[in-house]
Amino acid sequence: MAPPARAMANEAGSESEDIEIHRFPDGETLVTLPGNLSGCNVAIISTLQNPDSLALPLRFAAATARDLGARKVGLVAPYLAYMRQDQRFSPGQAVSAPIFAQFLNETFDWLVTADPHLHRIKSLSELFEIPTMCVRTAPLLAEWIASHVPDAVLVGPDDESRQWVEEIAKLAARPMEVLDKERSGDRNVEVSVPQSKALISGTPVIVDDIASSGRTMMATIKRLKEAGTTAPVCIVIHAVFSGTAYDDITSAGAAQIVSTDSIPHATNAISLASSLVDGVLGLTSR
Ligand code: R5P
Repeated sequence: MAPPARAMANEAGSESEDIEIHRFPDGETLVTLPGNLSGCNVAIISTLQNPDSLALPLRFAAATARDLGARKVGLVAPYLAYMRQDQRFSPGQAVSAPIFAQFLNETFDWLVTADPHLHRIKSLSELFEIPTMCVRTAPLLAEWIASHVPDAVLVGPDDESRQWVEEIAKLAARPMEVLDKERSGDRNVEVSVPQSKALISGTPVIVDDIASSGRTMMATIKRLKEAGTTAPVCIVIHAVFSGTAYDDITSAGAAQIVSTDSIPHATNAISLASSLVDGVLGLTSR
């Protein structure tokens, strides 16, 4: 069982079991659940880092839990995928966020997640008919920063990060800057860093919700270095780190890279288990 699933089960004092997923040679999937689910409120814990390969097994698992007598079947997805494709950026593209949300609406009775990428879509209630709960990670990130980087200057690489950076800066009582970002492709990103006394005098802490290709972090590190700052600390809520992203960010000059455990990764330093359990209990006790 992957963290934070194990930690969550311990924290909640609940019984927990792995869902067995068998891949047949022909590519089909067989899921096997514990047999004793009659009358249970079942929480399936699955981060959605590789959503395409997980979607069908999750659908099978939820349907099977109900078939075995579960009263309700919810999903705890510490990382909620497909939230960035929230509009048609080019003609003919799928707007994946509402389509994927509809798939989850049809599969589960409730959803708990941590800081989904809400930008043009302001609230999960715009996408979901089922009850949802978003865990806010800002207090946990602010606590980590206050105890590990006391001279932090919070840096948001783009306007989309402003929501987290503003809240963390307030909670940690530290200065902040939000940069301008231009993305012209999956791996082409430019950011501009303003003249800032605070940036030069403190340790920049770049905060973003997701590092995927790592290009946003790398471009930000490069520009900060050019502006004469000390090596920045990078904090990501969701450590997607596709391919060589983690190594690339390290090589770009990050002093340290830290993430929450919404996606298991060597950089995990901030546990969401307790907040996720609170979210589940808050939602299911209504
Ligand atoms: C988008 O605005 C997100 O907040 C992240 O900045 C973005 O997903 C990071 O992607 P990448 O690591 O591929 O630059």
